[in-house]
Amino acid sequence: MHDDEHDDAYEESGRERFRKRRRRAPRGRTHARDVREDGATDPGLAHLLESGVLDEVLGELKSGKEADVLLARGPSGLVALKAYRDPEAGGHRPDPIYLDGRRAPRGRLRKVLDRGARSGVPAELALWVLHEARTLWALHDAGLPVPKPCIGPGAYDVARAGRMLPMAFVGEEDGTPAPRLADAALPPDQAQEAWAQVRRLAAELLRAGWVHGDLSAWNLLWHRDRPVLIDVPQAVRIDDSPHAADLLARDVRSLLHSVGSLGIEDDPARLDAELRTRAGLPPSGPLDR
Ligand SMILES: Nc1ncnc2c1ncn2[C@@H]1O[C@H](COP(=O)(O)OP(=O)(O)OP(=O)(O)O)[C@@H](O)[C@H]1O
Ligand SMILES: [Mg+2]
Repeated sequence: MHDDEHDDAYEESGRERFRKRRRRAPRGRTHARDVREDGATDPGLAHLLESGVLDEVLGELKSGKEADVLLARGPSGLVALKAYRDPEAGGHRPDPIYLDGRRAPRGRLRKVLDRGARSGVPAELALWVLHEARTLWALHDAGLPVPKPCIGPGAYDVARAGRMLPMAFVGEEDGTPAPRLADAALPPDQAQEAWAQVRRLAAELLRAGWVHGDLSAWNLLWHRDRPVLIDVPQAVRIDDSPHAADLLARDVRSLLHSVGSLGIEDDPARLDAELRTRAGLPPSGPLDR
C-alpha cells in the first residue's frame, strides 16, 4: 500500500491528543532483550519473520537511549532492526516540542493503532515508530542518504510491525556496522572533507523541508567516505512545526559540539545562516510558513 492512500487517515493535532492516548495506553512488557530469536515473544517481530521481511535475527548491534538495534538478515541482505523499548519499561519518552504540529491519525488507522495497544505496543510508541518510518521514506525518496526502510511506506504495513523498524544495514557484508562519525577517527584532511559533506547533507535536509531535531556526529554514520543520516523519529517538518527554527539552532549547536573532536570549529550563528541560505530559506527568523 502506498502512503498517499493514507494521507486522509491523518489530521493535524498537537500534544493534547498524545497525552490522551498515553493515558489510555496499557503498560507494555516489551524490551529487546526479551526478544527471542524466533520472534515468539514480540508480535511485530513474529509478523516480520512470518511475512518474509526477515529470515532471521543474528544478534544485537547497539543499544541506544530509546531502542536496541539488532542485526538481522532479509531476502536481499543484512538488515538493521531498530527495536524500540516501551517508555513504560525504561524507553525514552518524547519531548512534546517534537509533537507540536505533528499529524495524528484518525479513522481506521487509529483503530489499528488502538488494537496494537491491546497487543502490547502503546499507541504513543507505535506513532513514534511510524513517524520514523515515514520520515525515512520521505528522505530516501528525496534522495538523501538514509537507510531505506524494509517496511512501509503505508502506515498499516508499518503499524503491523509494532515497535520494530527494519531498515537497510549500513556497514560491511560481514556485519561490521559503519562507525558513527564521532567515532570515525579521521585524519585532518579527511575530517575537513567529511565536514563539507555533512554541511551539504544538512542543507539538503533543510531544503527538503525537514529539521532532524537530534543532529550530531552520533547520528551520522561514516560509510565508504560518505555520511549516512540515522535516528529520525523526532524530525519535524518546517511547514508543520512552530519550533522548527529553534530546533534548527539547537541542531547546529549540537552538531558543532559533536564534531569538535574531529578538529572542526565554526560559529553556530554563521553555520545556521549558511544552511538556511543553501536551502533557499531566509537567513534568520521563523521557518514555518
Ligand atoms: N541502519 C543502520 N545500520 C547500521 N548501524 C545502525 C543503523 N541504525 C542504527 N545503527 C547503530 O545503532 C545505534 C543506535 O541507533 P539510533 O541512533 O537509531 O537509536 P537510538 O536509540 O536513538 O540511539 P542513541 O540514543 O544512541 O541516539 C547507532 O548509533 C548506530 O551505531
Ligand atoms: Mg541515535
